[in-house]
This record gives sequence, structure tokens and C-alpha cells, in this order.
Amino acid sequence: MTIIYYNGEFRDDQVTLDYNDRGYQFGDGIYEVVRVYDGRLFTAREHFERLVRSAGEILITAPKTVDEYIEICEQLIEKNQLADGNIYIQVTRGVAVRNHAFPEHAEPVTLMYTYEAGRPLKGMQDGVKVITAEDIRWLRCDIKSLNLLGNVLNKEKAVRAGAVEAVQIRDGVVTEGASSNVYIIKDGTIYTHPANNLILNGITRQVIKECAEELLIPFHEETFGPDELLAADEVFISSTTLEVTPVVQVDEKVIGGPGPVARKLQQAFDEKIQ
Ligand code: PDD
Repeated sequence: MTIIYYNGEFRDDQVTLDYNDRGYQFGDGIYEVVRVYDGRLFTAREHFERLVRSAGEILITAPKTVDEYIEICEQLIEKNQLADGNIYIQVTRGVAVRNHAFPEHAEPVTLMYTYEAGRPLKGMQDGVKVITAEDIRWLRCDIKSLNLLGNVLNKEKAVRAGAVEAVQIRDGVVTEGASSNVYIIKDGTIYTHPANNLILNGITRQVIKECAEELLIPFHEETFGPDELLAADEVFISSTTLEVTPVVQVDEKVIGGPGPVARKLQQAFDEKIQ
């Protein structure tokens, strides 16, 4: 049995969720996924700072402080004896009779639970295939919103094509994956989409930026298009669950690799999670 945290209490996972929760009816809420390595939280503070920001951007006051969320995570790890896995956290606007406008008296509903997951070692070692797909999402992709239909549909397209990720393209620009950030390497320089409203500023992306700086690899937050993606020396994707995963094929084009820059970043990332 998994012990979960639901609305202020630790309890078993047989929780009854209210059908009037706005998370169901409007996707009206936000979430985070935090990694646990060997029983230790990784970059939890950064994730919860982003959670508080995401909540604020949709006018929900996060019910807890960053330190309180971290404390709950520590307790969930302890109660579930979690070694390697993830913690999922979601906060919805609350429960109210269906009406698009905000309810006057709803209290945010918080759900937090752990699940076991190993590191994505095979993909990291061998590299993965991705497809390209049109980015059909809204214009506030910087908010980690529960509204994930655009992401879900593109991820499904990727899976049906035997790929791991869909690299999304908006107006001729590569934005990000359905659940990851995307990078190319050309002549020794890393390029990735600037952290604006069109992408989620990944916590892993920020760690990779730090690794690149330490390794003296130029890291440019500049847009690039599908042609540059296909002509890149290396391509890789990143997320809390994918870490640094090299891309060896984009649609029908074999990029080759994994290349040396991805390998160096993997090594530097590895040192940070020890
Ligand atoms: N997704 N971009 C999108 C659209 C994402 O959904 C994610 C992460 C990222 C990478 O962010 P981070 O490095 O902070 O995990 C970028 C999580 C893992 C998910 O939805 O499961």
C-alpha cells in the first residue's frame, strides 16, 4: 500500500476524489514531478519554487511554502521507503459546482504521492528516436499546467511511430518536447529555446546549463528551426525523468551518436546526483 498526502493528511491510497474538482472539469491546476535518487530529493527546492510560481500565474495561492512541500516529500519518502522514483504533486483550484469563472469559496486541493522508477539507462546509453510534430499548445507553456492535451496527443503520435518523444515546432521554430526540453549541438555550441512563454523552463535544463558552464561548453539560449535540428552534430532531450537522453534519429534522419558533448553532460549530471 502506498501512503499518499491528500489535502492536509497522510493516508492510504484509497482516496475518494470529488467529481466537482476543477482539476477534472477544467484542468484547472498545476503540477510538478520531483526525482528521488537513493532516498534523496534532487533539486526539490527549484521544483517547488516553480510550483509556487505556476500556481501564482493562474491565480491560485499555493497552500504551502517551499519548505513545507519539501518536508512533506521527506515524510512520503520515509513512509513509503522510496529509494529510486518520483514524487508527483498537483494542486487544483478546488471543488465547486461547474462554472468557468473562479468559484468564490473554493480551497485548493493538494495531492502528493511517490512511485518507484529507475533511471532511463538504456535510452541514455544508446540514444533514442524522436519525431517532429506541430506545437498545438496554448501560449503559456511556462506554466506547468494540468492541461496537457497538446502534449499528450503529440506524445501518442511519437509512441505510435516507435519514437520516445515528439519535438514540437511552432511557426518554424523548435520549442520543446511533449515532456522534455530539446537541445542541438553545432560546432561545439549547445543551442536551446530561450526560457520564455513558449517552453517550460526545465529544472533539468537549468542543471544542464550549469554543467555546460562548468565544462566551458558554450550554452546559447537561441531559437533554431527544423533544418538546423536535422543538420545538428548532436541532439539531446532532458527532463526530470529522462535526464540527458541523446537523440540518434529525428523522423527518418539518422543523426548518429550519442555524441561527445551529450556524454560529457551526462557525466557532469551524474556527479550532481551523487
Ligand atoms: N515533464 N517541457 C515539458 C513540456 C515538460 O513536461 C517537462 C517535464 C520538461 C522538463 O522539465 P524538468 O526538467 O523540470 O522535468 C520540459 C515532467 C517530467 C512530466 O510531465 O512528467
